[in-house]
Parts: sequence; structure tokens; C-alpha cells
Amino acid sequence: MMIVFLGPPGAGKGTQAELISKGKKIPHISSGNLLREAVEAGTETGKKARNYIEKGLLVPDQIVVDIIKDRILKNDCKVGFVLDGFPRTLSQAKVLDEMLRNLGNSLDMVFYFSVSKESVVQRLSGRLICGACGANYHKIYVPSSKEGLCDKCGGKLNQRADDKPETILERLRVYHEQTEGLIGYYKKSGILREISSDDRRIEMITKNISDTIENTLQKKSLIGRGVN
Ligand code: AP5
Repeated sequence: MMIVFLGPPGAGKGTQAELISKGKKIPHISSGNLLREAVEAGTETGKKARNYIEKGLLVPDQIVVDIIKDRILKNDCKVGFVLDGFPRTLSQAKVLDEMLRNLGNSLDMVFYFSVSKESVVQRLSGRLICGACGANYHKIYVPSSKEGLCDKCGGKLNQRADDKPETILERLRVYHEQTEGLIGYYKKSGILREISSDDRRIEMITKNISDTIENTLQKKSLIGRGVN
């Protein structure tokens, strides 16, 4: 099962991708996490990407495409994956389509997370990430039991460098300019599913996504067996 999570920054893509990945036993591939790991490790790719990420701009297509191609070709992706944050431009979407076609596959579903600008700003300005294991928290909505410390590993919780108010607004601007057009691209191919992410509990959204996946897979299997 090959799924893409599409939507503005802070829509909850990463939170839901983690839960769906565990529930469906498929890898969660986050282009943002892969890029931040490269920055942290000080690789050539990381050095090139750092400036773009900190300014809230998109990293050039070729850099991201290379990272994603390497990851998708790993063995654990043969059962499928949840792609979170990729593609983000039409050119990335076309490369992904072509790559999957060459592997004899295609995307099953693209979930578009709709959310208001107010929720985005509230969610991102309160987000905290564990510096040791990467677990995701929110000061108000998903607090850790001990302030500033991760429940899972005890690591220190930090704010992401690009979650400052002015960078959040820039990321939203870039999303509307370069990524939003993908909604139409996937609608045309009939695989787009819209998920409202505003004012809803995390577990309700997970159930909604999970049910949609099951229904779509069931329909596909009936069509495959010639039942209309
Ligand atoms: P990336 O890491 O992909 O960031 P993003 O798309 O901006 O998304 P976020 O991680 O900010 O938000 P999210 O939707 O995952 O929300 P989350 O679940 O964390 O990209 C970062 C940068 O890398 C980009 O700006 C760019 O520079 C570069 N990059 C990455 N991919 C690229 C690509 N393909 N091409 C070019 N450049 C690329 O939730 C947010 C907060 O809200 C959390 O605190 C969470 O606990 C909370 N929350 C989640 N759901 C709910 C809910 N239902 N109710 C209340 N709170 C909630």
C-alpha cells in the first residue's frame, strides 16, 4: 500500500504518518526528517539543504528526489510506505509517478489534510521535538508528563529551528505557491482523499484515515475480482 500525506505545514501529517505506519506495519518516510538527519550528520546533502530549511524554503528538487529514491528502493518499502512531505512540487510528483511505474507500481491514495491557518500557527508554535528519539509533542495538545523531557526516552525537548513565527508564515506562503497545486493533480487521477484536520482529536483523525484505507482496499480487491 503506497500512500502520500499532503497538506500545509503543521496539518498533522507527521503525527498521523507515525500512527498509520505502526498500525499498518509500513515504513513512514518523512522527507523533512531525512533532510534534518542529513543536516545533523553534516553530510554534503545536509550542508546544501540547511539554509533552505532554516529560511522555510523548499530544498531544490534534485536533492530531495535523490534522498527519497534511495529510501524507497530499500527492502522494507516493498510492502509499501507512507510518504510524508513528499512530493511538494509538480516535478517531484512526476518523478515519483515514473519511479513507481518503473517498479511496476503506483500510488494507492493521497490524503490531503485540510486545516486553517490559525490551527497551523497554534500547532507549530507549540510543537516540541525530542532531541534524542525525535518524538513529537505539543505544549498544550500533546504535553509530555515531565515538562521539557520526553516520555519515551527522557531526552530533552526542543523547538524546531523553522518553527519560529516568521518562518512558519514563510513556510505557509511557500506551500500555497508551490505545493497546493498538487491537490488538483491527484484529484484528476482519482486517488485524492480529503481529511479535515481542524479541531479534531488525533485518534479520531487516525480512525478516519484507517477506515478510508480499508474501504479503498476492499473496493480495489472487489474490482480486481470482477465484482462491481
Ligand atoms: P517537513 O518536516 O516536511 O515540515 P512540514 O511539511 O512543514 O510539516 P511539519 O512537520 O511542520 O508539520 P506536520 O504536518 O507533520 O505536523 P505535525 O504532525 O508535526 O519539512 C521541513 C522543511 O524541509 C521544509 O520547509 C523544506 O525546507 C524541507 N523539505 C521537506 N520536504 C521537502 C520536499 N519534498 N521538497 C523540498 N523541500 C522539502 O503536527 C504539528 C504539531 O501539532 C505537533 O506539535 C503535534 O503534536 C500537533 N498536532 C498534530 N495533530 C494535532 C491535532 N489533531 N490536534 C492538535 N494538535 C495536533
